[in-house]
Amino acid sequence: MSSKKLHYFVFFATLFLVSKLDKKVLILDGRLRQGGNTDFLLQRLLNNFDNAVGASIARTQIFACTNCEACLSNSKCIINDDMQTIYHQAKTADFVVLASPIIFGNLSGRIIDILSRLQCYFKGEFNKLPKVGKVKQGAIILIAGGSSNNDVEFALKTAKLLLKILNVENPTIIASLNTDKVPTSQDKEAIETIDKLLNSVEL
Ligand SMILES: Cc1cc2nc3c(=O)[nH]c(=O)nc-3n(C[C@H](O)[C@H](O)[C@H](O)COP(=O)(O)O)c2cc1C
Repeated sequence: MSSKKLHYFVFFATLFLVSKLDKKVLILDGRLRQGGNTDFLLQRLLNNFDNAVGASIARTQIFACTNCEACLSNSKCIINDDMQTIYHQAKTADFVVLASPIIFGNLSGRIIDILSRLQCYFKGEFNKLPKVGKVKQGAIILIAGGSSNNDVEFALKTAKLLLKILNVENPTIIASLNTDKVPTSQDKEAIETIDKLLNSVEL
């Protein structure tokens, strides 16, 4: 390769890399524990994202909506906790991952608390779904001890609603069931879906 061609190659390769690193991934992390089944799939995703930020179990404190109604006149939530960072990250993210075990048929309490704080986007107009930031790619990871699709049905509906508010279109669904008997680390289908997603993601 001539030195001029090499120069162009290095220039465009650098541009590509910078644009890749520039993409932001928001993680809404509903794990109750580390080292469990949700953790296993989430880590498989996170290992491939350099720029992941968001609500991690260890680092964030997010309170549930208190129905104080301040957002009706302020158009923003006045509770001063880590959700304020999530509001900002949700606007600028390129990709959103929601990961949760199934807890009594629904998403974990952490995710429900986050969802409750998105109430400020509705501003009392329950029939109008707001759009937060640009259109994003995304994924929903659900882990259930039970083996029936009914075990995740309700949680999936809730997860889709949450991502819709954040303007995520057609999220990839990864559900690993039956963890009471078989750990997710042996769920080939779930692992394959994650790997396929990683190959297709425009990051
Ligand atoms: C409090 C609690 C409630 C649960 N409720 C359900 C449930 O309703 N349906 C279900 O299929 N599994 C249920 N499970 C099982 C978990 O979804 C399952 O153990 C899952 O693997 C937990 O995720 P983890 O391994 O990442 O911690 C429940 C577990 C706990 C601790």
